[in-house]
Amino acid sequence: MEISQVGELLKNAKRLVVLTGAGMSKESGIPTFRETQKAEEPPGDGADLAALWANYDPQKLATPEGFLVDPTLVWRWYEWRRQMVLKVEPNAGHVALAKLEKYIEDVLIVTQNVDGLHARAGSRNIVELHGSITSHFCFANAHKAETVPFDLPEPPECFCGSPIRPAVVWFGEALPQNAMEQATRASESCDLMLVVGTSALVWPAASLPYIAKQNKAKIIEINPESTPLSDITDYALKGTAAAILPRLLECF
Ligand code: OAD
Repeated sequence: MEISQVGELLKNAKRLVVLTGAGMSKESGIPTFRETQKAEEPPGDGADLAALWANYDPQKLATPEGFLVDPTLVWRWYEWRRQMVLKVEPNAGHVALAKLEKYIEDVLIVTQNVDGLHARAGSRNIVELHGSITSHFCFANAHKAETVPFDLPEPPECFCGSPIRPAVVWFGEALPQNAMEQATRASESCDLMLVVGTSALVWPAASLPYIAKQNKAKIIEINPESTPLSDITDYALKGTAAAILPRLLECF
């Protein structure tokens, strides 16, 4: 059966890359992006921040242009999300991935998530392709802003006069160069890639499994749904991260 076959692949793996997306954190209680875009009506001015999530409008909330139009709204929304993330715990899937490091020499987690849950579960080698919700830099010059309190009502100013923003990658922005380079190198040299909980629609993150495949790595997808990637995978395990990953760990 597929789980034991994938378990064998894992047991033989020397260099593993795990690419994760929003589905990885779903069972921790964080809704995925595509789920949040099903609502039709954008929120009015008086909508609270939770309603903004339910009606997630990337243009307003996750672009540099949106931040320039309403920096306070974007600042407050990210602070609300940070609070949401602080209240939840890594799930059994995050924990299983962290434990894999005991058995496989070289494990790199490449995540599109900004929630920090892999680190909280104990994974040590993590590349955050889309940044992190728990740090900041300034909008104009990317000066690091390590000591800024989060709970301010509006974005404070950097010493250079530019507003401080969350250190996440917004639509239309380049990924942090080091992060993408490290993820690409690891994808070129891994022998196995697990792709967990991503719709594989957002590039360049979605290019990584294709790079791994070109370099002869086996590709395993864990997702309750099919994705554009499913066709190139060696195994597509239909199920959730918190259900499947602990079962794979049991194969060791
Ligand atoms: P998406 O919301 O696009 O996709 C989530 C994927 O997780 C879907 O394929 C679901 O079927 C799957 N899924 C749902 N529940 C799951 C579970 N419990 N276990 C495993 N899989 C599950 O999220 P991403 O692919 O991460 O970018 O989206 C990529 C990027 O698009 C995000 O990082 C963000 C977004 O807009 C930026 O903010 C730049």
